[in-house]
Amino acid sequence: MTTQTYFIRTFGCQMNEHDSERAAGVLEMMGYRPAADEASAGLVLFNTCAIRENADNKLYGQLSQLKPLKLADPDKTIVVGGCLAQKDQGALAEKTPWVDVVYGTHNMGRLPQLLAQADSKSLPVVEILEHTEMFPSALPARREVAHHAWVSISIGCNNSCTFCIVPSLRGPEKSRKLGEIVAEVRALVDDGVSEVSLLGQNVNSYGRDLVLAEPDGGARNRTMFAELLHALGEVEGLQRIRFTSPHPKDFTSDVLAAMRDVPAVCEQLHLPLQSGSDRVLKRMRRSYRARRYLDLVAEVRSTIPGVAISTDIIVGFPGETEADFAQTLEVVEEAAFDSAFTFEYSSRPGTDAAAMDGHLDPAVINERYVRLSDVTRDLAAASNRRQVGTVQELLLEGPSKTDPTRLSGRTRTNRLVHVPAPDDAGPGDLVNAELTDARSFYLLGAVTSSPVSAPVGAALPVGARTR
Ligand code: SAH
Ligand code: SF4
Ligand code: F3S
Repeated sequence: MTTQTYFIRTFGCQMNEHDSERAAGVLEMMGYRPAADEASAGLVLFNTCAIRENADNKLYGQLSQLKPLKLADPDKTIVVGGCLAQKDQGALAEKTPWVDVVYGTHNMGRLPQLLAQADSKSLPVVEILEHTEMFPSALPARREVAHHAWVSISIGCNNSCTFCIVPSLRGPEKSRKLGEIVAEVRALVDDGVSEVSLLGQNVNSYGRDLVLAEPDGGARNRTMFAELLHALGEVEGLQRIRFTSPHPKDFTSDVLAAMRDVPAVCEQLHLPLQSGSDRVLKRMRRSYRARRYLDLVAEVRSTIPGVAISTDIIVGFPGETEADFAQTLEVVEEAAFDSAFTFEYSSRPGTDAAAMDGHLDPAVINERYVRLSDVTRDLAAASNRRQVGTVQELLLEGPSKTDPTRLSGRTRTNRLVHVPAPDDAGPGDLVNAELTDARSFYLLGAVTSSPVSAPVGAALPVGARTR
């Protein structure tokens, strides 16, 4: 019997990347082995995203490229899972009848059964569940990188940002038990992981559902997310903890204190702003205001010296005026983001914003997008330039994508750095590197000592901690 092979293409966010690792884990448990590409794989899985309209269009375009492969080899199995599958359900299978299985955001664990059903049917098998009790992290994961792991702490979202389709696709927020998360991280560290990224749509509301279910109604003096950071800080051998994303409205001082006091928590914060205009924030149903956001940024910068702050911003939300946009530019300048993801507003079916008045001309949205991107790129370049001359701890990841004689690594602040490959250190090692040159999106440097065995968090020199 020939071995079955699979190839997974992932669209969208880190949750989806992690879901793909779990899908790979499930397939490998069934005896599948990785293939190099779609053409040679016996099973092709697309793990999809629906956050913006161009994600939808791109996916349908790519799915149509699979049609000739399926016609040439009818035994090839084509699977579409994730957010777009959850959104379009049976309509997806109607548009792309060469697909064998369509599954949603809550039933990846049923892949073996769905594949077995597909074998005995000529029509696509479509299964979409609203929500299940099983937390998908219980599934095995096949990690892409040996030293880094995604760890899911909650799924779903209880917010109702008017632009966002995620709550309707990922369901209400459900947190995983703290002890289970700590146990998973311990097992990962035993398996060679030194850095974890905690994942949730709104990480700092982690555990609210668990607390409410407690007999005393959850009387405690620390939020569960702060508690989780402290608990993970106790895991021996874990060097770096990151998390994404906190919501500014829920960012409590105990979380900031945990970032300061738990050495493994990195000096990095992704804090989505979305807009700098209070009028737009209100229409987005983002309940903080620009001043509160800027005060929070100032507090984070003074509490965590050298912290890098990144953000998400949407331009062209319905009703956004030039004056609103100017306020976004002002807030961006004052916050001096170290990096930013900027998006053109995209209307999503079923969201409150889709039904609002004042949708803007795409040309206006694009013009503002270009102006904002210029500003955020300059800020990122300036932030990188300020690092030149410092020595910082790098976790080496692997060969640079553009120059195989170099290794790429990340600082604790999550800056990408390329260094000439040292003889005595490789992927997964912590080294110190002097940063010698800055570009907008990465830095160049040279390893000064390797590997580092200093206590966690202590390798960052004074120079790197000042902005
Ligand atoms: N839960 C995360 C965000 C998930 S979506 C959080 O709240 O931080 C990632 C980003 O996509 C959002 O922060 C937002 O900036 C962007 N986004 C979401 N919906 C969008 C839409 N309809 N159009 C454009 N960008 C959108
Ligand atoms: Fe979407 Fe808002 Fe929830 Fe983030 S917090 S997933 S933007 S609804
Ligand atoms: Fe992520 Fe896209 Fe779904 S951003 S949660 S994969 S809609």
